[in-house]
Amino acid sequence: MSFSLKGLFTKKVSTKEEPSGEVPRHVAIIMDGNGRWAAHRGLPRTAGHHAGMVALRRTIRSANDLGIAVLTVYAFSTENWNRPSREVDFLMRLPNEFLRTDLPELIEKNVRVTMSGFREGLPKHTKDAIDDAISKTATNTGMVLNFALNYGSRAEIVKAVREIAEEVSQKQLTFDEIDEVTVSQHLYTAGLPDPDLLIRPSGEIRLSNFLLWQLAYAELCFIDVYWPDFKHEHLVAAIEVYCKRDRRFGGIKL
Ligand code: FPP
Repeated sequence: MSFSLKGLFTKKVSTKEEPSGEVPRHVAIIMDGNGRWAAHRGLPRTAGHHAGMVALRRTIRSANDLGIAVLTVYAFSTENWNRPSREVDFLMRLPNEFLRTDLPELIEKNVRVTMSGFREGLPKHTKDAIDDAISKTATNTGMVLNFALNYGSRAEIVKAVREIAEEVSQKQLTFDEIDEVTVSQHLYTAGLPDPDLLIRPSGEIRLSNFLLWQLAYAELCFIDVYWPDFKHEHLVAAIEVYCKRDRRFGGIKL
């Protein structure tokens, strides 16, 4: 089987069970293409989101098996509220459904659940399901599964700037003390390493307001399958591409 990875160029990659190099510590995924996957089958968009949940389950298992330390998944953006209310309601119930069936496995696999995003605005049942998973896995030491939920990067940066300004005005921090670490510490991802690899399936080549600060030096991989069709071999292929990239972080190879 082969498929295309898009970037500045498109190339066919062959599939493997395991990557040949070191796996990235933090992988972030924009789970895109649920609606188109459903439309191609003459199904409602919600069926695509449900299939997306199944793909998420598979991907969590794969990421854990491969030894990835942090997996961040974009489950709902601050812009997704603009969708029809039926779709929004469905998306807001998915964390409940997923955690009801999968939390025992996450606990058994020592996975720690976290959330990046604005809690305000989430329905109580969504917050309760996420909070329950966060508290039941808080002391786990294995892979971190970070749900980006009601998340938007620009709004997150505005929130950080406001908090920092407040600390300066309260004299808890001086103007000169503000640096990149200060900003990182005020983002929802505080305490997590920045993503090394961003994967976006579905063929779209954009970031869609996702982790704009944190992705500064990430390798980007765009892959032309819809998220519900994303499988272990796609994750391995993306990691394989990552392993071949030459990461210089703005420096040069001596
Ligand atoms: C974008 O695809 C996807 C979303 C807005 C939702 C992503 C959610 C899931 C994959 C399910 C996650 C499950 C849990 C448990 C949180 P789209 O609908 O915009 O697709 P399209 O671009 O093809 O229309």
